[in-house]
Amino acid sequence: MYVISLVFVLIVSVTAGRNEPNSGAGYSVHGIKLRSHSDQELISELQQSVNLDVWQYGLPEGQDTLVMLSPENRIEVLDLLDEKGIEHYLHLADVEQALEAHEDEVRQWKQQGRSGRSAPFNDYPRYAEVDAYMENIAAQYPNLVTIVNAGKSFEGRDMKYLKISTTNFADTSKPIYFMDAMMHAREWVTTPVALYSIHRLVENLRDQDRDLLEDIDWIILPITNPDGYEYTHLNSSTRLWRTTRSINLEVSEDCVGVDANRNFDVNWNTIGVSTNPCAQTFPGGSAFSEPETRIIRDILLENIDRMQVYMNIHSHGNWLLYGFGNYTLPPNNIHLHIVGAAMGSVMDTMKLPQADWYKVGNSAMILYGTSGSAQDYGQLVGVPFSYTLELPGYGYGFLVPPQYIEHINTETWEGIAVSARLARLYHRSGL
Ligand SMILES: *[C@@H]1O[C@H](CO)[C@@H](O)[C@H](O)[C@H]1NC(C)=O
Ligand SMILES: *[C@@H]1O[C@H](CO)[C@@H](O)[C@H](O)[C@H]1NC(C)=O
Repeated sequence: MYVISLVFVLIVSVTAGRNEPNSGAGYSVHGIKLRSHSDQELISELQQSVNLDVWQYGLPEGQDTLVMLSPENRIEVLDLLDEKGIEHYLHLADVEQALEAHEDEVRQWKQQGRSGRSAPFNDYPRYAEVDAYMENIAAQYPNLVTIVNAGKSFEGRDMKYLKISTTNFADTSKPIYFMDAMMHAREWVTTPVALYSIHRLVENLRDQDRDLLEDIDWIILPITNPDGYEYTHLNSSTRLWRTTRSINLEVSEDCVGVDANRNFDVNWNTIGVSTNPCAQTFPGGSAFSEPETRIIRDILLENIDRMQVYMNIHSHGNWLLYGFGNYTLPPNNIHLHIVGAAMGSVMDTMKLPQADWYKVGNSAMILYGTSGSAQDYGQLVGVPFSYTLELPGYGYGFLVPPQYIEHINTETWEGIAVSARLARLYHRSGL
């Protein structure tokens, strides 16, 4: 039965697998109660075969998976779940309406602009606002901050990051903490977290955090996928775009974009990817086909001698994941787990009642297999503590109301601080 329905589903995917913008019309989000690891793998297979849009990864008996279904694939997917005896329910009936409501909320939030809120980290700032914020910080704090223009995105936007250091990166005994955000365009709440971290290290350093600035050098890249991010701001029908915006006619004449988080040169194009160039998890025509992932690669390699942490920030679902996506654990997996667990538990102590708990583990063992991820690449090239961080979504998925940004920022900062201190400790001990 299963084989038959999967074949049917594959046929449907030819028409339904396009990653074109959609108005959300007729789309719905469904919760799925997973029973086992093989249920998780089934969701992953559907992600590849019917381009199932996974909003949130789930854990058997722990956290429901959220998937968005289209008018084209809804019946097939729900029938398949029923056949396998997997429980599911309607989570959000009308995505179009939710997108419009979200657009209004964000507009109103910007208009209100009360004091404090006008800061770009308490909002969903556009690319230009982020750029202005970083330029301004670099100009105001020249002894602490260096702005680096690392190159251009596919559409020609400057990819800028900040280096924050009390010694202009000259003291090579210090570990480096690298964080990046907004690799997937629709994960809006990630960029505020990166900007707030800059704010807390530079503009608003508190006494209890002085050691973080004194003892550690920081690299912060707030927008990894600027083309995709700007595209999600066009109108509500492009809001859920995930991939880059690159065009490669040799690969596809119809579809735009590559999943940057499958495009790194680590077990590239092996598991957890779709060969359909229109799919959400298409890894690109080759590893590092995207200028945006090449820039991250170069940051990692240039600083690899003393880079101790790489935090690749995503939204949503409260996860802290480490490599490798092929089910093999890195040699230092015990310490990877300890630092991740410390970070997750500190964030849990600050969680809102409606948030999920943080879950920590190897990305393949607690979710499912992947290849070409940023997390795995960082680990492979020698960053001891390389993680994927999935922030809270509070059931809103990617459409986190702006009222929650401030809470996510402060909660996540406490987690980042703990991971930085532990990583520094292990760095001193040569771990
Ligand atoms: C939204 O933007 C996309 C991309 O530019 C465009 O194709 C679509 O027509 C726009 N939709 C509306 C309702 O303006
Ligand atoms: C999984 O990937 C890592 C990183 O590339 C590699 O070291 C390891 O050998 C791989 N494991 C298997 C079973 O192929």
